[in-house]
Amino acid sequence: MTGAAWTELDTYFAERLLPGDPTLEAVLAASAKAGLPPIAVSALHGQMLHLFARMVGARRILEIGTLGGYSGIFLARALPADGRLVTLEADPHHAEVAQANFARAGLAERVNLRVGRAVDTLPLLEAEGAGPFDFVFIDADKPSNPDYLAWALRLARSGTVIVCDNVVRGGRVGDATSTDPTIVGTRRLMDLAGADPRLLSTVVQTVGAKGYDGFALMRVE
Ligand code: SAH
Ligand code: DHB
Ligand code: MG
Repeated sequence: MTGAAWTELDTYFAERLLPGDPTLEAVLAASAKAGLPPIAVSALHGQMLHLFARMVGARRILEIGTLGGYSGIFLARALPADGRLVTLEADPHHAEVAQANFARAGLAERVNLRVGRAVDTLPLLEAEGAGPFDFVFIDADKPSNPDYLAWALRLARSGTVIVCDNVVRGGRVGDATSTDPTIVGTRRLMDLAGADPRLLSTVVQTVGAKGYDGFALMRVE
C-alpha cells in the first residue's frame, strides 16, 4: 500500500460516509485561493472531530490553530445553538480567511476567533473565565505542544477530551535523537501526558489523504 492507495481509500470512504457538502468545498477552495497551505485535517478526520465533540456533548470547544477554519467548521457544527467554539490563530491573513469561511458556513455567531499567538491569547481566555472547555483540539505550531497541553489542562474540567494533531509526522516523532523543534515539542507532550496522573491518553496512528500521521487522544480524569 502506498500513499496514493491511502488517498484513494480516503476518497472512497468519504464518498460513502460523508454527504456532499458544497460549503466545505467552497471553504477549501477559498482557502487555497487565498494562498493558505493545504494542511487542514482530511474530511474524514474533520468528521471524526465532529463525532468526538458530539460524543462528549461539548458546549464549549477550544481550538488552537484555526488556519482557514476547516476543522473549526466540523467542530462548531457539533455544538448546540448556544454553544461556542473559541479558535486561536496567530496569522492575521489566515484569520481573515477563516472568519469569512465561518460566515460562509453560517457559523459566525457560534465561533469566537482570536487573532494572536496562542501563548498570548490563552492567558487572556483564562483571565476572562472563558473555560472550562469540554473539548480541546491542539493543531498549531508543534514546538509549543507542551505549552498547549498545559493550557488545555488549565482550561479543562474532569471529563474534558483533548485531541492533539500530527503526533506521528511520517514516523519522525519516533526519532529520539531528532533536534527538529517540531519533533522535540511533540515528544515532550508525550512525556508530559504519560507522567500526568490527570490524563488518560493514547495515540492513534493514521494513514490517508494526509499521508502517515496520527493524533493523541486524551481525557482529563
Ligand atoms: N486546524 C486547522 C489547521 C491548522 S494549521 C484545520 O485542520 O483546518 C496550523 C495553524 O496554526 C496555522 O494557521 C498557523 O498560522 C497557526 N499557528 C502557528 N503558530 C501559531 C501560534 N503560535 N499561535 C496560534 N496559531 C498559530
Ligand atoms: C502541518 C501542520 C498541520 O497541522 C498539519 O495537519 C499538517 C502539516 C505543517 O506545519 O506542516
Ligand atoms: Mg494538523
